[in-house]
Amino acid sequence: MIQGSLRKVVIPAAGLGTRFLPATKAQPKEMLPIYDKPAIQYVVEEAVASGVEDVIVITGRNKQAIENHFDRSLELEAFLRQHGQKANLAEVRRISDLANLIYTRQKEPLGLGHAVLCARTLVGDEPFAVQLADDLIDAEVPAVRQLWDTAVRYGGSVIAVMEVPASQVSSYGIVAGDWVSNRVMRIREMVEKPSPSRAPSRLGIVGRYVLSPRVFSILERTRRGAKGEIQLTDALTRLAAEEPVFAYRFQGTRYDVGNKVGYVEACLAYGLKDREAGPKIRSLLRRMC
Ligand code: UTP
Repeated sequence: MIQGSLRKVVIPAAGLGTRFLPATKAQPKEMLPIYDKPAIQYVVEEAVASGVEDVIVITGRNKQAIENHFDRSLELEAFLRQHGQKANLAEVRRISDLANLIYTRQKEPLGLGHAVLCARTLVGDEPFAVQLADDLIDAEVPAVRQLWDTAVRYGGSVIAVMEVPASQVSSYGIVAGDWVSNRVMRIREMVEKPSPSRAPSRLGIVGRYVLSPRVFSILERTRRGAKGEIQLTDALTRLAAEEPVFAYRFQGTRYDVGNKVGYVEACLAYGLKDREAGPKIRSLLRRMC
């Protein structure tokens, strides 16, 4: 049973970001700027716009830049104040006041499921959301809010999905089940990264989840799977056998910033939306193509 309001979100950010080496050798993937803002800031802002109080970030070694970004920066603030940079000062202060950020470390990158399990004592016994900074969703109603409302309405955990091209199913967790409304499917089956011929559908999991706390006890019992990691999808398959789990086709535009092409697409999309620089970027693109 999921009811009331969403209070806690978990952002796993302890991965090694190998697809972005060498950029991620000494800096977190989640801090790479998408146009002019680190990816993780978009995700925290989505959580805040969804009404979340506590944002729990799972970090690891080399991830201090994340904590610094959401902390006060007294020297920088003093400089901006002295030089009359009011807009910059207001923005820097806004970031440090965004949410109640709580950090805990995953000591080894043992997979997304293991990272979520690291939040167990901080989340406690209540439903919570998970957001991956690999996926940015530009939407009128914040994606996590859409998922929470669906979870309350249908009384179960909810996973964000979108239709993906057949050629890309092997990059996603794929779900299948029975539609209960235009956008909501009760999940029967989940397959991690299937070949196109074995995929039960083309509905791929995107990095937003609202989960019942029962997932923690399942994760604790989940053995290491592909690549020696504890996979969240494996635990969700078990959860779906014990409780209702729904897939939700969210509304909004999703950018997969966890790969290089999606990253460039997102930088351009957010840049084009910039009132001042947008037209210049557009003519730059025309000239280049
Ligand atoms: P990814 O598998 O996309 O992230 O996990 P990664 O391992 O950092 O990236 P690549 O594939 O090597 O380039 C999705 C999210 O889960 C987090 C990552 O930080 C990322 O935000 N994650 C992954 C953890 O927190 N811990 C892990 O053990 C694995």
